[in-house]
Amino acid sequence: MPAGQDYRIRFDHVALAVTDNETARAFFERYFPIQARNARTLSEQVSGALYWEDFFLGGFPVELIQDPPGQDGFVNQFVRKRGGGLHHLAFELDNFHPMLEKLKSDGVRMADEQDFEDGNSIFFISPRAAFGTLIQVWQMHNYDAPRAKPKDDGLARFDHVAIAVKDIDKALEFFCRYFPARIIREKLLSRSTGNFMVAQIEIGGGVIEFIQSPGHPVEDDFVARFIEHRGEGLHHITIDMKEFDAALAKLKQNGVNVVGEAKNRHGRRQFFISPRSAHGALIQVWDGIAE
Ligand SMILES: [Fe+2]
Ligand SMILES: [Fe+2]
Repeated sequence: MPAGQDYRIRFDHVALAVTDNETARAFFERYFPIQARNARTLSEQVSGALYWEDFFLGGFPVELIQDPPGQDGFVNQFVRKRGGGLHHLAFELDNFHPMLEKLKSDGVRMADEQDFEDGNSIFFISPRAAFGTLIQVWQMHNYDAPRAKPKDDGLARFDHVAIAVKDIDKALEFFCRYFPARIIREKLLSRSTGNFMVAQIEIGGGVIEFIQSPGHPVEDDFVARFIEHRGEGLHHITIDMKEFDAALAKLKQNGVNVVGEAKNRHGRRQFFISPRSAHGALIQVWDGIAE
């Protein structure tokens, strides 16, 4: 671990809140080369019981959460309020106390804290403190235990998860203060389209992107629009696909809502799967596996 850091951390997953795990998983299975990780499990948390399961999407775990049948809990509430989709980010640490103490002594707003029977503990950083993004922090008593690993099939690669924020500098400051974050892309105006500002950090093996409105009038100020409607928060996930054309053709054939087909300034193609088709999640797909 880097000097001065007294714990280890990995970026464990991105979670989607859905009304039905099975149909959501079937969607991802149909269009992406996913690999199962954990089968559906019932978990009792302070905020209520929920079903969760996860799979590797391009090598990175994506979790699906739903309320158990017959229960109208916080997952359904989220689906009603925000249309479902990207719900939280989860990190695993071998010791979360240094982070927890720092957050608490700064008065950062926290949500539930809980100790589980298996020896693991969890706390949440409230979305109000973290740019509309709920952050799950786990302390794993068996941090080094062997874990399921995705097979490298070369078919897809999870590139990043993006958060729409009002002020990238503030977001960078927050994440760099509480997480061992490495800035991998300094803030700049998107050079392809000029209609958003972007920066990226890496934490524990995963990449978070921040996007911000440029603040001056531009064509299609989608970040400003998003924040106006939903507030700051998780915006999209980005997947590189080897079989880009085949994936696009299959989506279109099946009437999946595909938007924003474009090329960047290097000529690399992309499209988005609309949240309306992807259980509330906006999914950006790039042509080919980037290095
Ligand atoms: Fe989770
Ligand atoms: Fe992105």
